[in-house]
Amino acid sequence: MSTDPVPLLDLRLQYATIESEITAAIARVLSDQRFILGPEVADLEAEVAKYAGASHAVGCASGSDALILALRALDVGPGDVVVCPSYTFFATAGAIDRLGARIVFTDIDPTSYNLSAENLATAIDGVQDIKAVIPVHLFGQACDTAVEQVARDAGIPIIHDAAQAIGSHFADGQPMGSRELTCFSFFPAKNLGAYGDGGLLTAPDEETAQRLRSLRAHGAATKYFHDEVGMNSRLDSLQAAILRVKLPHLDAWNTARAANAARYDALFAAAGAAPSGTPFSDGGLPLRTPCPAPEGARHVYNQYVIRVPADRRDPLRDHLNERGIGNAVYYPKPLHVQPCFASLGYREGDLPESEAASLETLAIPVFPELLPAQQEVVAETVVAFLSK
Ligand SMILES: Cc1ncc(COP(=O)(O)O)c(C=O)c1O
Repeated sequence: MSTDPVPLLDLRLQYATIESEITAAIARVLSDQRFILGPEVADLEAEVAKYAGASHAVGCASGSDALILALRALDVGPGDVVVCPSYTFFATAGAIDRLGARIVFTDIDPTSYNLSAENLATAIDGVQDIKAVIPVHLFGQACDTAVEQVARDAGIPIIHDAAQAIGSHFADGQPMGSRELTCFSFFPAKNLGAYGDGGLLTAPDEETAQRLRSLRAHGAATKYFHDEVGMNSRLDSLQAAILRVKLPHLDAWNTARAANAARYDALFAAAGAAPSGTPFSDGGLPLRTPCPAPEGARHVYNQYVIRVPADRRDPLRDHLNERGIGNAVYYPKPLHVQPCFASLGYREGDLPESEAASLETLAIPVFPELLPAQQEVVAETVVAFLSK
């Protein structure tokens, strides 16, 4: 078996395939000397809107800001309640708290790691003043459409946290971003990454898009005339020009990620692993592969996350680290038990599936340029360790 290191992600390989296009795009902005918003951002917004099947798109400074802008567009503030899963990146809940609203955390479905219709129905039962729900399309997989139905039936607006899921499709075949307000992140490690921070929202109507444009520029729909206090959250032209080079490649990269995921699925299944949702007590290799996308959906595998028994997860990490195999834990502590949210009154044990996932999951390399031989090394190393 080769002992060459396998990184979790190596963006230099992607850059090598687009270097001349990137250099030309940067040169275009430099000769234009317009660095904030401007035509590159407007063009990117039009291209992402078309890609995502949305009527409008608004660029902003990050995925975290996109969430705050979306909440502001729904007038969320003190006294309001916003529902989101506990098992997600901090920004989902941080945005709610930043606006002075109260977070109601939900548990997750242990198979997909996303919100389920049952989780949401339980979380909203009897709760007053709910102003929004934020489903997170974790690891690149769109949540079950039944989740959206529960929110719509209850008259609760939805904000999609699709920071990890550009290019994914819901089970009804609709692309991520084509429905309600949707927040994307262009953090460099994302499947569509900028060369710095960046974010974007898709909006379902012109009025909301206009409000977002004003909110990202200090609340001024017309420069120097402020209808409300907004933010300074603009996407810069260099990032937009870089993203415009990358966007046409996104489907091919997402397809390569999905092919890599299928290769791991097969390698692990051959070694006795089962798909996520199968109890460890069923026997076989104590490893669970990600839940396959339902018919009609498209999972973009921003991460490929395996699940192992809690007492094996950190030793497996140590073993992979010793062998130079990249890995990461998304996320080691669910948000409902983070010290900064102690005043909300949650206790360990309140959201058991989120807590279990935090102890049992591990992401392994799945980036598009990963070679089959490297995947075999990763799979063999994982399987050998878990078979002991
Ligand atoms: C689920 C989720 N939400 C929000 C964000 C925030 O995006 P950004 O890092 O661009 O602010 C991220 C990115 O890390 C994320 O993974």
